[in-house]
Amino acid sequence: MANTVLVGLQWGDEGKGKIIDVLTRDTKVIVRFQGGNNAGHTVEIGDQKYVVHLIPSGILREGTFNIIGNGLVVDLAHLYKEIKYLADKGIDVKSRLMISNRAQVISACHRQMDGMSENSLGDKKIGTTKRGIGPAYADKVNRCGIRMADLLDIESFKTKFTAQAKEYNKAFAAAGIAELDYEAELETLLPIIDYIKPMISDTTALINAEIKKGENVLFEGAQGTWLDVDFGTYPYVTSSNTTSGGACTGSGVSPRHIDSVMGIVKAYTTRVGEGPFMTELFDEDGAELARVGHEFGATTGRPRRCGWLDAVATRAAVEINGADQLTLTKLDVLDGFKTIKICTGYKLDGEVMDTMPLDLNRIDEVEPVYEEHPGWETSLENVRSFDDLPENAKSYVRRVEELLDSKVKIISVGPKREQTFEL
Ligand code: GDP
Ligand code: IMO
Ligand code: MG
Repeated sequence: MANTVLVGLQWGDEGKGKIIDVLTRDTKVIVRFQGGNNAGHTVEIGDQKYVVHLIPSGILREGTFNIIGNGLVVDLAHLYKEIKYLADKGIDVKSRLMISNRAQVISACHRQMDGMSENSLGDKKIGTTKRGIGPAYADKVNRCGIRMADLLDIESFKTKFTAQAKEYNKAFAAAGIAELDYEAELETLLPIIDYIKPMISDTTALINAEIKKGENVLFEGAQGTWLDVDFGTYPYVTSSNTTSGGACTGSGVSPRHIDSVMGIVKAYTTRVGEGPFMTELFDEDGAELARVGHEFGATTGRPRRCGWLDAVATRAAVEINGADQLTLTKLDVLDGFKTIKICTGYKLDGEVMDTMPLDLNRIDEVEPVYEEHPGWETSLENVRSFDDLPENAKSYVRRVEELLDSKVKIISVGPKREQTFEL
């Protein structure tokens, strides 16, 4: 396998974690390049189920080496908890994880500010995961963030953290909410920092050295294209570049070294949190997708909104990411449907278009235009090759390729490793 970037082409939860795990058969080095513990990547191996939020899903495959790149925001307390969670399940993390010295730190200030901002937005809230992601990236861009490198000199970290907390406390006091007890917070953080320190490194140099040696690198995206801070349904987005370009800036690897972009597409659409969702269903079909697909957030447990596959938005996502191969996940969730729909156009002011509207603020107003496909009405869970798919499922896949203008390389028909096949 070549150096590959794996990204979600919808609003996240496309099954990226499972596919990363499958692809680690042929890759040793896995790099996450953006986001933080707002992500929730689920991998089922045998009768064990793992959910990782911050550490690359690649950690679950023995023999891999995993990197938290410079593009991430790292909640130290969460990182420690996640390492312990994996250790309890028999997975050694410490010797197989490196964290970029340039990654930013999420502190209790950011978590509290995330909650405060959401509350003050009222019914205009983003529906964030309240993990402090937005405030931490805001500090990064505002050039007042704390970086992982700052943990290496504990006195300097204390000074920076105290200054940050005092600033945030002014805002909390003004809003009439409890100020942060930063001394107590520091007490909790110090042993955690001690534990994490040996994992901090110049990961850019590490990754580039691996590439030079001819090792394949897999770049693990989090969230999805329509949550990208530039390309997503702004302001209802996350605060990082979730699209393939983020893999370079979030790791320090040149675009010249990226060979392929794998786009992950769920066979229907889901979204957690607020914001436009063009094919959202409020009927029986939507409830059925949620029920069969177990569509509850892996991070917050919130019910995911569900709808049919949106070929207009997803084709645009293929283009933005340059996805030269696709993985179609959760095809089995459509097993019971007599009729399956795909959105092929948006109707706005009486006209049908097959691209995103120029007036971005009107995306909420588009009416989806659907084409209908006969369902296969049989279980796909044991199918292990394209040839063995029922005819109606084959036509669905071929139509998806045509509409998205990219080739389906992998199909997933269940949460387990083995419920996957290549085309
Ligand atoms: P991610 O954030 O993109 O990694 O996706 P999540 O882990 O948040 O959500 C995907 C969910 O679907 C998880 O519970 C997976 O175990 C499950 N899943 C992944 N692929 C398939 C599939 O092909 N079929 C079914 N039924 N479930 C799947
Ligand atoms: P994975 O990697 C789905 C959503 C939140 C909210 C918006 C902003 O598992 O696909 P944030 O906390 O990032 O500021 O929230 O983004 N969101 C996700 N939705 N999957 C995710 O990650 C998400 N990470 C963030 O629900 O709407
Ligand atoms: Mg998820």
